Amino acid sequence: MPDSAVTVKDLTRRFGSFTAVDRVSFEVSRGEIFGFLGPNGAGKSTTIRMLCGIIEPSGGSGTVARLDIRTQSEQIKERIGYMSQKFSLYEDLTVIENIAFYAGIYGVSPERYPERKEWILRMANLEARQDSLTGELSTGWKQRLALGCAVVHEPEILFLDEPTAGVDPVSRRSFWELIYEVAGQGVTVFVTTHYMDEAEHCDRLALIYRGRLIALGSSARLKADYASGLLLEVAAEPVMEAMDALLAATGVRDVAVFGKNLHVVIPEESGAENRIRRILESARISISRVEPIVPSLEDVFVALVEEADRRAEG
Ligand SMILES: Nc1ncnc2c1ncn2[C@@H]1O[C@H](COP(=O)(O)OP(=O)(O)OP(=O)(O)O)[C@@H](O)[C@H]1O
Ligand SMILES: [Mg+2]
Repeated sequence: MPDSAVTVKDLTRRFGSFTAVDRVSFEVSRGEIFGFLGPNGAGKSTTIRMLCGIIEPSGGSGTVARLDIRTQSEQIKERIGYMSQKFSLYEDLTVIENIAFYAGIYGVSPERYPERKEWILRMANLEARQDSLTGELSTGWKQRLALGCAVVHEPEILFLDEPTAGVDPVSRRSFWELIYEVAGQGVTVFVTTHYMDEAEHCDRLALIYRGRLIALGSSARLKADYASGLLLEVAAEPVMEAMDALLAATGVRDVAVFGKNLHVVIPEESGAENRIRRILESARISISRVEPIVPSLEDVFVALVEEADRRAEG
């Protein structure tokens, strides 16, 4: 597609006999905020590293900014910004010195540099800290600076690999305002995260698990697909016995533990809540609550991951 910022077809990466990324295909439109979600070890960073030309694919193909990831990685590097999971700022340099350093690496012209520097300081709200030593900044401020450095050369596409890992919710929120600001300039953003609240900020999401893509679509789309049934929250004791009883009953589509409760998916039909009560009562389980709830992204992802596990086992 001419308007795609990223296209990936059957992208695969093996490390020895282990397949870290397994025939993954998707496209990212220009200007989109694309969220790449998955648990630890799912293959998120490996995918990003192939797209950024840091490692080679073992199979499949892909383009970034309409350039081939196998043969044009040097040109790709000029058009992208990349904030790695362990982003590297120089702790013994000041904020300004880090910006100047990355401007040098990315070949920002001396004419353009002052304007870019001002833009980054303003966007990241780092004006008052421009002469602070980077090592003395809090993690949240370092992340803002790292993002600024990653866009100093005005890339078309920005790759962010878990940019907000380990920061508090308030800093995360303000970091996302920054991402919106960058996206508002027309930059395509490809971001990996574990956080469901962050996933809700993305235009579209891909869920990767054990190297395989298991879902792709907007948050609303994924929820709608999932909720082609009724989701009930069940508070019952003992919870694991309740789960077994429900899983054994016919017509119960899915059961997952959420905190102290169970989330149960059943086909939409009248009397569904009473049916769940009867299943539990006949298993002599004490019920304190059964009520319909709106699915969260976490419900969707837990269900998809469990389904993938069942397929792998079966
Ligand atoms: N250079 C490598 N050599 C061998 N195995 C690797 C290498 N890089 C990654 N892996 C393995 O590939 C799998 C996917 O790793 P990857 O870093 O892509 O996961 P991730 O989704 O980014 O996880 P996290 O959320 O922990 O960052 C993991 O099992 C990892 O151990
Ligand atoms: Mg990673």
